[in-house]
Amino acid sequence: MSASNYESTGRGEIVGGVLAPHPPHIVYGENHWRNEPKSECGWEVLRWGYERARKHFLAKKPDVILVHSPHWQTVIGHHFLGLPEFHGLSVDPIFPNLFRFKYDLKVDVELAEMIAEEGREMGLITKMMRNPHFRVDYGTIVSCHMMNPEWDIPIVGISSNNSPYYFSNEMGQAQMIQLGQATKRAIEKSGKRAVLLASNTLSHRHFTTEPDIPEDMSREHVYEHSGYLWDMQVIDLMRKGRTKELIAILPEFMDHAVSEVKAGSLAWMLSALDFPQYPAEIYGYWTVIGTGNAVVGWDPILREAAVSQVV
Ligand SMILES: [Fe+2]
Repeated sequence: MSASNYESTGRGEIVGGVLAPHPPHIVYGENHWRNEPKSECGWEVLRWGYERARKHFLAKKPDVILVHSPHWQTVIGHHFLGLPEFHGLSVDPIFPNLFRFKYDLKVDVELAEMIAEEGREMGLITKMMRNPHFRVDYGTIVSCHMMNPEWDIPIVGISSNNSPYYFSNEMGQAQMIQLGQATKRAIEKSGKRAVLLASNTLSHRHFTTEPDIPEDMSREHVYEHSGYLWDMQVIDLMRKGRTKELIAILPEFMDHAVSEVKAGSLAWMLSALDFPQYPAEIYGYWTVIGTGNAVVGWDPILREAAVSQVV
């Protein structure tokens, strides 16, 4: 079915959104059979955080998982995985010693096309990726794997448009807010239950040398205090349900802490969730090579209880 003639009987909904960072180290620490390099352990606080987020959101039985990834960068427009299956070996270009991952994933092409069409109607440039040899990026893979290691739920993979890098943070973020609204409308029309993943790290200055044993946690700590303070500030706004203020300071966060939210994944997700005013759940925060990473969940069902907590 093409995106132009879709009909839906039920109203779809976003059943959750997760800030789902993608350092390859956490998949390396998991020792999953799909990843070739083997570790002793490592980065447990994040891995256990993902485990709790996974239990919570998979219990909602989503039909589809959507992911917006900073490591699929597209210069013109917003692209979507556009074939039912992709498989291959994904190798992290910086950490090939940690991440050589055999992936075999299923795509909800129908929903991807619907989002692309909604985006086009709003004036965004959108395009489907139909190349069967396209190598899916490690950002998409790590976030999806940590949320659903069984890979038994189809995904919608969305690229990150490069406009914040060659134009401005504000312009890029405005595009992502539109893309989020297009995503929400398409999900509602689809009749499906969706979980959204924003594949973003927070503060992003990092070490440039690696210990002999990459999982040597005696070497892992925040890279700089100012980046840590920024992370705590944005997490505080998440915890208090003040996402409109959060969106307002993200461009500054991008500049001061080189935050990966510059790629737009978090803005896209918060927009699709209509800028939640209820507190997010922090599943875990820890560093990976000095960068700040938080696994954070937004669950619309918890809205009532959360509002009463604030009062
Ligand atoms: Fe990254």
